[in-house]
Amino acid sequence: MKITVIGTGYVGLVTGTCFSEMGNKVYCVDIDTSKIEHLKKGIIPIYEPDLEELVIKNYKNGDLNFTCNLKEGLNNSDICFIAVGTPMGEDGSADLQYVLSAAKEIGQIMSNDLIVVDKSTVPVGTAAKVKKVITEELGKRDVSYNVYVASNPEFLKEGSAVADFMQPDRVIVGSDNKCVIEIMKELYAPFIKNHEKFITMDICSAEMTKYAANAMLATRISFMNEMANICERVGADINNVREGIGSDGRIGYSFLYPGCGYGGSCLPKDVNALIKIADDYGYDSRILKEVELVNNKQKFSLVNKIMNRFGCDLSGYIFAVWGLAFKPGTDDMREAPSQVIIDRLIELGGKINVYDPKAMDIAKQHYFKDKSNIKFVSNKYEAVNNADAMIIVTEWKEFRNPDFYEITNRIKNKIIFDGRNQYNKDTLEKMGFEYHQIGNSQPRIYKQYSYINSVQGMPLEYFSK
Ligand SMILES: NC(=O)c1ccc[n+]([C@@H]2O[C@H](COP(=O)([O-])OP(=O)(O)OC[C@H]3O[C@@H](n4cnc5c(N)ncnc54)[C@H](O)[C@@H]3O)[C@@H](O)[C@H]2O)c1
Repeated sequence: MKITVIGTGYVGLVTGTCFSEMGNKVYCVDIDTSKIEHLKKGIIPIYEPDLEELVIKNYKNGDLNFTCNLKEGLNNSDICFIAVGTPMGEDGSADLQYVLSAAKEIGQIMSNDLIVVDKSTVPVGTAAKVKKVITEELGKRDVSYNVYVASNPEFLKEGSAVADFMQPDRVIVGSDNKCVIEIMKELYAPFIKNHEKFITMDICSAEMTKYAANAMLATRISFMNEMANICERVGADINNVREGIGSDGRIGYSFLYPGCGYGGSCLPKDVNALIKIADDYGYDSRILKEVELVNNKQKFSLVNKIMNRFGCDLSGYIFAVWGLAFKPGTDDMREAPSQVIIDRLIELGGKINVYDPKAMDIAKQHYFKDKSNIKFVSNKYEAVNNADAMIIVTEWKEFRNPDFYEITNRIKNKIIFDGRNQYNKDTLEKMGFEYHQIGNSQPRIYKQYSYINSVQGMPLEYFSK
């Protein structure tokens, strides 16, 4: 098939590349000229395991093409995927401007019948809006091609996007047209040997499924963080509690890790968008609002622990931060807890030595561009040099089993604040480390400071978004 993918970000690039790997002729289109020029030279704008190799291979053999010219892509295409961003708007809703502008361009350019597939995460009713915009543009041109709009939400995970796309848990297609469903089934056949994995439904349900899935995942994380916070106060250990409840087949272990909050480009924005969608339809989604609030507070959990240990004035203290990306396997720092933690520690007077295996460039160029008191170092042990404490923010594999003797030789105080509960507490304490985890510290720690209470004017701004 000849396929066009509009939007060459995490989803569009992976989608286009994986379709081309199966022998389809794919055109990846983006308005970002420098991104397209880089891709043509084999420079991949994002980090995603196995992606670079597949992009280069399929670009060389001609199955994968990059262009800023939608006309070049759409010419004779059978299917056009819309995979542009749907960022969070001011009021929490999904901002559809990029999706609708892509739809408008399709209507202005298409020159044959076309299946248009929404792959971006969009509110219920967006496929109908997309169809209306395209039809209006066709009307202006006085042409009457058939346009079929379907929903095909994407469930890949950053950090394992290629593997997820190649072997999906399921492919969901929302359409009211049997031929469209058959064509989509054919397109996805190489990725899903098991037919039960291809699930078809009406368009609205497909659009809603993506939000429901992310809302469920976010709820599990915030639930566990809530349990962790209670554990800290009553003297229980969340690691044991997790084992205890995860072994229940009805609950399971996935997405049951306590931590310093979820981030990324999907969960925060999709939970907010669903809250807004519900509000727009007159429904007050109490659970989702709390899920979001608990998460925003959780991003401060390590800062509170550090303040309880070192006080409110962190001048003169150096903190080694391990991890910037919102999760391992990606360079994506959108909504990452590291931003909140580093900003607050610097605001309280602390100095930061930071290391991340993949997100250093984006952090330097974008998130901490003009910040002083932050030093980017070239490896994890260098970050620890002369530090008063070490802070684990992202659970990269290379942080999971570090050389604690090396750390001992470099660090000033053997203190670790672990936002991802990576290490064995007994082992570290036997080695003389003071080791703080999420969800198992002693109750006494929580009687003193909280960042939320100590900085005037902060709480509402930070927690009511
Ligand atoms: N990132 C993920 O893990 C993930 C997973 C599942 C679903 N999604 C959803 O997929 C969508 C895309 O997410 P992403 O992370 O890939 O976004 P992204 O920001 O990485 O990429 C979006 C790309 O679209 C381009 N673009 C915008 N308007 C355009 C236009 N009119 N024509 C051509 N290109 C245009 C931008 O330049 C950018 O390169 C979002 O709705 C997101 O919620 C993302």
